[in-house]
Amino acid sequence: MANSKYEYVKSFELKDNLLPQTWMVLRIDGCHFHKFSQAHDFEKPNDECALRLMNECAVDMLMEFPDMVFAYGVSDEYSFVLKRTSTFYQRRASKIVSLTVSFFSSTYVMKWSKFFPHKELQYPPSFDGRVVCYPSSSILRDYLAWRQVDCHINNQYNTCFWMLVKSGKSPKDAQNRLKGTQTQDKNELLFQEFGINYNTLPEIFRKGSCVLRKEVEEIVKHSEAGDPVRRPRKKIVVQHCDIIGNKFWDEHSYLLSD
Ligand code: GTP
Ligand code: MG
Repeated sequence: MANSKYEYVKSFELKDNLLPQTWMVLRIDGCHFHKFSQAHDFEKPNDECALRLMNECAVDMLMEFPDMVFAYGVSDEYSFVLKRTSTFYQRRASKIVSLTVSFFSSTYVMKWSKFFPHKELQYPPSFDGRVVCYPSSSILRDYLAWRQVDCHINNQYNTCFWMLVKSGKSPKDAQNRLKGTQTQDKNELLFQEFGINYNTLPEIFRKGSCVLRKEVEEIVKHSEAGDPVRRPRKKIVVQHCDIIGNKFWDEHSYLLSD
């Protein structure tokens, strides 16, 4: 069919293919979740149900998009790593971001009542998204370490802040009490004033959440004698562990190999 005289408008569409052979990292972040968490009365500083809801959405993302090899989440954000060789949507940035963010948002809404059976969703939550390419595994690891350090700094601060406020201080006084304090000072404060050992708080709060495919032994059936029959299965799992040091990456070297 002959082109119509209007066809030229297509030439205004710009190509946005991302660099080949690089790690594409998609980060989604809850839009105005400060307000959203208040509207839904999330526990402060951490609401475990809200975090688990985010984690389950991330698991669904890995199921839906096989090129995603790893995800790391904290608070209202999640980062998804797409394998280096991925040709998902010809690596077109706007396609990748729009599709995955809308999938994540609708999954969040669908699963809401499972995690909050007694809380009605007050309004539709939304997420923003961006995708960035990292040219080497080492820079990709630095990116993930950056997010986990952020998780630690924010969580430690927020834990102190809310303990002070819950004990009767005004938000302003709590803020002033924490001004200029280092990690060690905050651990001391929690221990001396509230008897809390920071390192024993739940790992999901302190370390954030990792989502990955892993070979696990599963009971697939029972023999006639009643013994469990186990088989290795690839499963998507959620873990709360350190991803800054080498240990995790040595134990899961397949995640970053081609
Ligand atoms: P934008 O992302 O810029 O739209 O703003 P935002 O309000 O979402 O802030 P940001 O993403 O920087 O931070 C996330 C905010 O969500 C936190 O500051 C908290 O206010 C809120 N939030 C996230 N997780 C929890 C939680 O488990 N409990 C509570 N109470 N609040 C949470
Ligand atoms: Mg946000």
